Amino acid sequence: MAVHELEGIILQLAASGKGILAADESQTTIGKRFASLHVESTVENRRSYRELLFTTPGIEAFINGVILHEETLGQRNREGVLFPDLLDEQGILPGIKVDKGLIPLNTKEKITQGLDGLAERLVIYKNLGACFAKWRAVFTISNTLPSSLAIVANAQALARYAYICQDNGFVPIVEPELLIDGNHSLARCAEASEATLHAVFEELHKHQILLKCMILKPSMVIAGNQHMPPSSINEVAHATLKVLQHTVPTDVPSINFLSGGQTPEQATAHLNAMNKLKTAKQPWLLSFSYGRALQEPALKTWNGKAHNVKAAQRAFYKRAKLNAAACKGLYQTTMEAEDKEAELAFV
Ligand code: 13P
Repeated sequence: MAVHELEGIILQLAASGKGILAADESQTTIGKRFASLHVESTVENRRSYRELLFTTPGIEAFINGVILHEETLGQRNREGVLFPDLLDEQGILPGIKVDKGLIPLNTKEKITQGLDGLAERLVIYKNLGACFAKWRAVFTISNTLPSSLAIVANAQALARYAYICQDNGFVPIVEPELLIDGNHSLARCAEASEATLHAVFEELHKHQILLKCMILKPSMVIAGNQHMPPSSINEVAHATLKVLQHTVPTDVPSINFLSGGQTPEQATAHLNAMNKLKTAKQPWLLSFSYGRALQEPALKTWNGKAHNVKAAQRAFYKRAKLNAAACKGLYQTTMEAEDKEAELAFV
């Protein structure tokens, strides 16, 4: 294991006040997002949309890594520059989603596949410029789920993935996502999150993962999207910090949340509230690795039309800048000024 190489990567990825853009949607997922706007999901449309994101001027001040889909890793901008090289030139690290999606584990739950041949694929991805990776495990919450089988099986897969990554010079992003879908309470989400994260770190320990060279990408502790009343910003911030404090070793340098179906504004406000509350007992950086919460306004503004590219970039720039402010707990105070600056940057 080339620890020096991993340390160099994590130094850049765990940079205070910056976060990671998740732009690694599978073709099915991006197909659904495009379809909602009546945009056809062709190779060229996907390429154009990703080019819009990666060429947004000034984005490197807020984004230090981008997770790419395998298809995007080999694509180029209109000038013929490979996307990983384009990102590198801006000081943004290219990463790669390496899991192969979900398959049934039992009648109600899923497990993530993709371990077979992973080491060989990483060699190819490295040659194309990627230096960190992502693997997403998914858990459903109900009164009885996630089951202990789902927790242990997915935690083991995450740990095996993380080991293969570190062994091949990749910093692993370990992503256990507890879905927001359902009518579970915040307390039930906290309980399920704590059990899951506890098992994940037990497996990471058993697999001898270098915690200082990984990133945790968890969901926030929040009531289900059908639960009434919804969780307040303060409740989410307090409950999430408490669960993380109980489960995440202090050696982990950075926790980069997923947005998981929260609105862009909620995801920013929750991150901001946590960074304001954070104490020495919660020593990790708290940042973002959002997909939808960074992209939604940009995607809607773009709407598949070349003449909307500038306006879409402005929308993306704004969310990136506000989330970077939230990494420092400065979202509320800077919000209006940031909006004005975002406009000016694109005049
Ligand atoms: P969301 O922020 O849209 O949940 O996506 C993050 C991600 O990378 C899911 O794997």
